[in-house]
Amino acid sequence: MAKKRIGILTSGGDCPGLNATIRGVAKACFERFGSENVQIVGIQNGYYGLINNIARDMDNSEFSGILTQGGTILGTKRQPFKMMSVIEEDNVDKVKAMKDTYKAQKLDCLLTLGGNGTHKTANLLSEEGLNIIGLPKTIDNDIFGTDVTFGFHTAVDTATDVIDRLHTTAASHSRILMVEIMGNKAGWLTLYSGIAGGADVIIIPEIPYDTQKVIDSLSKRSASGKTFSIVAVAEGAFDVEEAQLKKKERAKRRLDAGITTATARLAAQVQKGTGIETRVCTPGHMLRGGSPSAYDRILATKFGVRAADLIAKDKFGYSVAMINGAIGENKLKDVAGKTKFVDPECSYVKTAKDIGVSFGD
Ligand code: F6P
Repeated sequence: MAKKRIGILTSGGDCPGLNATIRGVAKACFERFGSENVQIVGIQNGYYGLINNIARDMDNSEFSGILTQGGTILGTKRQPFKMMSVIEEDNVDKVKAMKDTYKAQKLDCLLTLGGNGTHKTANLLSEEGLNIIGLPKTIDNDIFGTDVTFGFHTAVDTATDVIDRLHTTAASHSRILMVEIMGNKAGWLTLYSGIAGGADVIIIPEIPYDTQKVIDSLSKRSASGKTFSIVAVAEGAFDVEEAQLKKKERAKRRLDAGITTATARLAAQVQKGTGIETRVCTPGHMLRGGSPSAYDRILATKFGVRAADLIAKDKFGYSVAMINGAIGENKLKDVAGKTKFVDPECSYVKTAKDIGVSFGD
């Protein structure tokens, strides 16, 4: 019997849990089909490797000892979806090249571990006739159709730790500490870590903020005797005026005004408006680093096992998901290209508001 050749790639921004998922897929496939009947083919650096046929047959031993390892043993790269069907200067037809690699590597299927952009290309390849299974990763937790993505909860833990640490220095100096948390489109990470870390103000893209309301809530806190405050701001936050603008107009307006980030601007406005010394902390890519949490290791393993189930059933064109608490899958075409945003009326926002957290609205 010919070995089943299962391609795997990791694409887009890395996150904790990618290796745990790769391991989960491989081990579940070895169990199900017999390790002698499976060949895992590692595609290097995401779709870039698929376009350029940078792939290798992996040794089964490579899937041991990686459960706890952050990042991805396969490497990753951003390969924007909007350029996938565009022939650029190098004259490469990327879609054709990816299909050629799939064929050259004699793949029976390809597993794509990634976020929203990765899912869009996965769907494109599926529509082109390849056997694709997506697995939802991102610290942003913004993939449509799944309750949760792997990497998210580890990042929540890390961001919460950052906020915890800011508390002591903010208290010592009687300052406002503003922390900018990754998340360009969706505010899940800021919302969860803001609540877990006890932030006094939480600013997310789904709830455009009124600067004066942020200042008022911090001034009120100060007037009540609180000597310091913590503000958690999502990277992609914008104020109520900017909410009226298109993304590109917003970016241009900021560029023209010399504004680097919403957090830096808000910090300056808050310092001026409250008279309280305000500092900004940007943990940035630290939020994507490190070993996956226990939660993410379990989630990654469950997702990996589900992917093996789908392979066993020859069920392709799907993305593994957690749906209302149960492991399942969505059709790629139903989820690709959609973003899962925070509902401003959701119970998390409500809970935070119920204990007096301001969202600047
Ligand atoms: O998608 C994950 C993410 O970490 C976002 O939160 C962030 O906006 C973006 O990636 C940063 O991307 P890069 O690492 O390419 O700068």
